[in-house]
Amino acid sequence: MKLTPPLGLAPLAGITHRAFRRLVAELGGVSLFYTEMLNSRIISTQNPWKDPYCLDACLDQPLVAQIVGGEPEVIGRAIERLSPMGFDAFDINMGCPQKAIMKHGWGASLLGKPDVAKRIVARAKQATTRPIFVKLRSLPGHDLDGLVAFVKGLVDEGVDLIVLHPRSVEDGFKRPAKWEEIRALREEIDVPVYGNGDVFGPDDALKMIRHTRANGVLIGRGAVVRPWLFWEIVHGRKWPGDPLCVLKRFLSLLTLYSPPPYRRRQFLLFLGWFLRNWEHHHHLFKVAMGVDDPFEATHLIEKEIRMHGLNPVNTPIYFKI
Ligand SMILES: Cc1cc2nc3c(=O)[nH]c(=O)nc-3n(C[C@H](O)[C@H](O)[C@H](O)COP(=O)(O)O)c2cc1C
Repeated sequence: MKLTPPLGLAPLAGITHRAFRRLVAELGGVSLFYTEMLNSRIISTQNPWKDPYCLDACLDQPLVAQIVGGEPEVIGRAIERLSPMGFDAFDINMGCPQKAIMKHGWGASLLGKPDVAKRIVARAKQATTRPIFVKLRSLPGHDLDGLVAFVKGLVDEGVDLIVLHPRSVEDGFKRPAKWEEIRALREEIDVPVYGNGDVFGPDDALKMIRHTRANGVLIGRGAVVRPWLFWEIVHGRKWPGDPLCVLKRFLSLLTLYSPPPYRRRQFLLFLGWFLRNWEHHHHLFKVAMGVDDPFEATHLIEKEIRMHGLNPVNTPIYFKI
């Protein structure tokens, strides 16, 4: 698998569906895409070809299927079912902090169960000849020795690439990501380590690589607000396009790829981030919320932007979720 430039779109449940991945792929600069997290119990029992979450969007290559689960056998079977679909790699989610996920012993709760995590990687390796990735976060209390030992255990089982988002579950998004943990992991283990967390502009990406020596960078929220961010990193200059055209293209791709019952929700989830490109984005979002049809909403947003002469903002983006 060729991962150049070493930049990837991080998995974001509800956002990095086919339409959004295709949008980012068209804008360019990315060499790694992830599906939204796929529930191993559902995948292991149902037909993934009929599940829009499991399908690609042609240009979103290489594409990694991200699996969430806690039972090695179920995860193994899920990967076996997905294998004929042509994914380039499989990723095990060991970082999701949501209560609904952790209560099953999935996501970040695996960080407290190194033996189970190892068995999951071992079973995943049996299930496919494709690479197995693990995306994880910091351990409780930022126990760095514990993190290194945990990852070394996964390396022993054959994990091929690690992505670290260096925030603990307790941190939420309240504290900045501790990039020094990415560097520590990079120095201690022999498989590629990608860094993730708080890359919102081209300078951040370069700083992360320089500071951590990571083999690559995954970008999440920053790429939802500015899907052209990868282009800017690769070209080293400001993207020259019009954000309104990006919004309209997203809408067409949503129509192409997303089944009707999903569309409005996916549209609003995207807008909640993307409208930060303009001043008065809260007002624009309210306008969009007032109508059911995403096409009408886009038309009204454009009208507001033109009528009030709202300017795209170029200031750095900071988030509170
Ligand atoms: C809305 C949302 C959904 C997310 N969904 C997933 C997910 O499905 N799988 C995953 O591994 N991480 C998920 N994450 C975490 C991101 O992949 C990423 O690790 C985190 O946002 C930090 O990167 P960033 O600062 O570039 O956004 C999600 C984050 C957000 C904000």
